[in-house]
Amino acid sequence: MYIKRIKLENFRNYDNLDINFSKDFNLIYGNNAQGKTNILEAIYILALGKSFQTNKDQELIKIGKEKAIIELEYERKDREGKIKLEITEKKNFYINGIKQKRVSDIIGKLNIVLFYPDNINIIKQGPAERRKFLDIMISQLKPNYIHILNRYLKTLEQRNAYLKQIKFENKEKNILDIWDERLSELSSQIYEYRKIYIDKIEEKIKDIHKEITNCGKEEEEISIFFKTNGTNKKEYYDELKKNREIDIKKGFTSTGIHRDDFEIKINNKDISIYGSQGQQRTAVLSLKITELNIICDEVEEEPILLLDDFMAELDENRRTNLTKAIKNNQVFITCTDKISIDNKNNSIFYVENAKIKKQ
Ligand SMILES: Nc1ncnc2c1ncn2[C@@H]1O[C@H](COP(=O)(O)OP(=O)(O)OP(=O)(O)O)[C@@H](O)[C@H]1O
Ligand SMILES: [Mg+2]
Repeated sequence: MYIKRIKLENFRNYDNLDINFSKDFNLIYGNNAQGKTNILEAIYILALGKSFQTNKDQELIKIGKEKAIIELEYERKDREGKIKLEITEKKNFYINGIKQKRVSDIIGKLNIVLFYPDNINIIKQGPAERRKFLDIMISQLKPNYIHILNRYLKTLEQRNAYLKQIKFENKEKNILDIWDERLSELSSQIYEYRKIYIDKIEEKIKDIHKEITNCGKEEEEISIFFKTNGTNKKEYYDELKKNREIDIKKGFTSTGIHRDDFEIKINNKDISIYGSQGQQRTAVLSLKITELNIICDEVEEEPILLLDDFMAELDENRRTNLTKAIKNNQVFITCTDKISIDNKNNSIFYVENAKIKKQ
């Protein structure tokens, strides 16, 4: 699959932009703060419904303007299409000119894997970053997953609101049974998806990581452990029931799949605690290459790769390993220098103050 063309209007620092891309490598280079990442962000939003840089849609509109438009044309093995987003006070997505009801309706049309320096947070930060990694990957592959997850989060919000009403307004505790019933049903469905994909990661990452670390040094064994507090509806229900009094006291739900996590171990030690900087970076690269392989296997097409300032921060060995993982993917690379790419079908774009020149 690949993106043929992208158009921007009042998006971030751009007034108007209309460019065609190469099917293979696209290098976007220029000084800091010129608009390189903004292009990748536009692509990412049209593929996944939201930005990787902000949750505030208003920030996406050019300062002083009221409406931003981003649009792209893509081609896949079996179809081609257009995805468009208009941002005003609201966000409206269009596929081939037809307005979509939900943001989630556009997810999965394009498959994207983003490599950027903040990926390290998957390891360094708390469980929320790891859940986000997992949720984005599964959503791209199983559109139903995002609906179930959204229903769960909505129900969770209702339960939390009701917990506060019990605490402050003395509402009837037994009504919680209704929320617990719904939450545990949805939890068991989410568990099934997450378990499948954690297993897939576990299966693939071992070899990928061995290959990256096997360069004369000691080979590292990587493993992934899924941490959740149930495996089926009954177990999730019982957990909710068990923690009911604590939850009422706290005013929020303390157990459930919104607390899921996975642990990454290297030679049996938790890497987020015991890993060196280098080990953490390598593990994150292994994880992202694993994601790339899983998406590629499932959709039977090469996903689009966005590498934002990423090449620059890899050493030669890691860079070689990443390059090996890139096959026929369309790739967008941003960097400050005009790095050389050994590929005949590449396009080079120079960005200066939101103007792009193809070289
Ligand atoms: N809503 C907005 N309106 C106008 N300008 C914006 C808006 N949002 C961001 N910008 C500006 O866009 C510029 C380019 O941002 P971008 O992140 O694309 O830079 P970059 O070329 O990737 O730089 P770097 O090499 O530092 O990563 C920045 O100067 C930023 O202030
Ligand atoms: Mg940037």
